[in-house]
Amino acid sequence: MIIRQAVYVSSSVTISSCPAPDLPEYAFLGRSNVGKSSLINMLTGQKNLARISSRPGKTQAIQHYLINGEWYLVDLPGIGYARAALAQRKKWERLIARYLLNRTSLMNTFLLVDSRLAPQKIDLDLVNWFGKNQLPFTLLFTKTDKVTLARGTSNIEAFKKELNKTWEELPQGIRTSALTGGGKEDILHLIEETSRIFKGDQ
Ligand code: GTP
Ligand code: MG
Repeated sequence: MIIRQAVYVSSSVTISSCPAPDLPEYAFLGRSNVGKSSLINMLTGQKNLARISSRPGKTQAIQHYLINGEWYLVDLPGIGYARAALAQRKKWERLIARYLLNRTSLMNTFLLVDSRLAPQKIDLDLVNWFGKNQLPFTLLFTKTDKVTLARGTSNIEAFKKELNKTWEELPQGIRTSALTGGGKEDILHLIEETSRIFKGDQ
């Protein structure tokens, strides 16, 4: 699939102010600073579509971007941003959970995990929360350009090994890099295939 057009639509701090759920959408979720907004820019080929920052806590609302007039990419606030006040963090987490559990047009969530790090509890908890709530997701291992292939592979394997303790069958994982464009084809292909289901013409 080729992204011909990517347009910012809205920034919502309540579920009711999100666009009508009449198009398939795909959300990006993960720890603050893991690279959600950068990945959206990489996929759309627009450097400044989603705001990015080297400081965590940049994205603070549910951001909808309309792609080719046909589907939405959704940028979410980062979870676990340690420097945000606890009350603010809880508020975002509640908003995100409500969004994930109730958004009828949400086809899939990309769960981002930093490939430079050994397995982090917060990431494992998030994956298990998706499992518990039976929500579909795809793991994206980010910033692969910042780590050697061997180190990245060993981190990813360790992450999967942790999940294997509770998961019978592991969900798919894709390595990504916002810098080199790694993972782009696979992600767009997956979105294309999944959107067929929304239209009912699979
Ligand atoms: P919040 O909105 O705060 O939750 O963060 P985010 O997950 O949207 O992260 P963001 O895209 O703002 O990126 C955080 C930092 O990581 C920025 O300095 C990016 O330039 C950098 N970054 C993100 N992805 C990559 C990548 O694939 N490779 C490299 N080298 N840097 C990356
Ligand atoms: Mg962001």
